[in-house]
Amino acid sequence: MNISGLSIEPFDQLPLSPDTVADLRSDHAGETGAVQIYRGMLAVSRDPVVQRFALTHIRAELRHLRFFDRWLPMRYQSRLLPVWRAAGWLLGAGSALFGRRAAFHTVAAVETFVERHYLAQIEVMDKTPRLENLCRVLRHFCDEEVHHRNDASSRVAETPGWLPRAWAHVVGLGSMFGVLVARKV
Ligand SMILES: [Fe+2]
Ligand SMILES: [Fe+2]
Repeated sequence: MNISGLSIEPFDQLPLSPDTVADLRSDHAGETGAVQIYRGMLAVSRDPVVQRFALTHIRAELRHLRFFDRWLPMRYQSRLLPVWRAAGWLLGAGSALFGRRAAFHTVAAVETFVERHYLAQIEVMDKTPRLENLCRVLRHFCDEEVHHRNDASSRVAETPGWLPRAWAHVVGLGSMFGVLVARKV
């Protein structure tokens, strides 16, 4: 299978530990939510800046999601995909209701979490030479998430006040909880 110019072996041909499979299930769940965050923003925001921002970044998220949709066999996917879809949409729409700054803070917080989540997996997979291509794909995705985060945080104040910091904390905790659940179900 090919993704963004990178080729990757079929899922079944790779030596994936149960732990790594659980991580990949959470990645798929996360990308499902990510697409919906931007869809939620697009649905409620009348702000052209937010609209343009969401339309730009949703393209990368759709690519990420399409990869996992096709590559990760159905039986390994999260059974809670409708939940992740709803949660992502509500987060995107809900934050955009509070204006563009809230939307950008939310994306910055989510992507900060996602970067760490991908990097932790890459560090583990890096030790298995057969997972080189998968690693490369995840690294590519991770770079794009970092780009989303940098774009979002460059649009808000450099030193966020207590409210954005508290919100980022809540979003981080929510994401962590989502990962814990999606790794299992
Ligand atoms: Fe993504
Ligand atoms: Fe992203």
